[in-house]
Amino acid sequence: MTPRPIPVPAPGGTEAPARDSEFARDLLRAFCDRPHRISPKYFYDAAGSALFDRICELPEYYPTRTELGILRAHAGEFAALAGPHAEIVEFGAGSLHKARLLLDAFDRPARYLPIDISAEHLSAAAVHLRGDYPALEVHPVAADYTQRLLLPAHSPREGRRIGFFPGSTIGNFSPEEALQFLRVALQVLRGGALLLGADLVKDPQVLHAAYNDSQGVTAAFNLNLLARANRELGAGFQLERFAHYAFYNAPLARIEMHLVSRCTQVVEVCGRASEFDEGESLHTENSYKFTIDGLRALAQRAGFRPGPVWTDPERLFSVHWLHAPENA
Ligand code: AVI
Repeated sequence: MTPRPIPVPAPGGTEAPARDSEFARDLLRAFCDRPHRISPKYFYDAAGSALFDRICELPEYYPTRTELGILRAHAGEFAALAGPHAEIVEFGAGSLHKARLLLDAFDRPARYLPIDISAEHLSAAAVHLRGDYPALEVHPVAADYTQRLLLPAHSPREGRRIGFFPGSTIGNFSPEEALQFLRVALQVLRGGALLLGADLVKDPQVLHAAYNDSQGVTAAFNLNLLARANRELGAGFQLERFAHYAFYNAPLARIEMHLVSRCTQVVEVCGRASEFDEGESLHTENSYKFTIDGLRALAQRAGFRPGPVWTDPERLFSVHWLHAPENA
């Protein structure tokens, strides 16, 4: 996938406004780099988020329902560990569905701070939540939680600050990024704890099926990255010329998702002609799987003190309580 520096005029001679966006820059850079790789954050426009919601309901995709089962079964234990008047900080708050399990179980939670990159998405979700929990202070924070975080001061009147990072989103980070995220989280959670969901290493066939579902929803989710480039950047990808390819890389304990060119082709991307060889791949996502000990060791390296761990009877998924020492 080699972009040749030949400017191609945009259809109708006008420049698409998003062509100088971060997405455009990262996509063009991905085609220059070898191997070709782009951040999975670009999956999540409105269409991609809707496809991800459908993935969570698929019979093959066990992580969401398994984690929900663990959270439901042990919410009382989390509440006891958190203590009264806790403040919940959710990293990458999605539908807020899982946070409600904690809000319902905790003893008079004082404040809820959902952090998400999308301010629009957050404020809509917050309005909904305020209606259902009138006594709760809901304070949305629009920020990139992988960077240094500035949160509202934690009042000594309040109970402990409890971070919540469900869904095994930590698995979409590289090991270095995961360590960096945990260090950032520790800074804002001192004296409290982090409740973290992490998918576990398991039978490769179970993993393979979860990312190659029979209805093709994961394939559509992966291909949506190219559809998004067509919509936002005026790119000319023909989706049927690319294949969704997901496999378990056992030595690295991760699912890899790729988009593989089915033929030799030239595609216009941001006014440039990009050449794709048959079989050439764009690496779109890693989804790391953990052992319980491996996850605890990673958290310890970041400065957390690992506490209790909960799993489901089949040991598919794990939920970790990680104490954030006052003076790490
Ligand atoms: C959001 N994340 C934890 C999902 C995962 O399983 O890595 C994203 C996903 N990719 C394909 N299916 C789901």
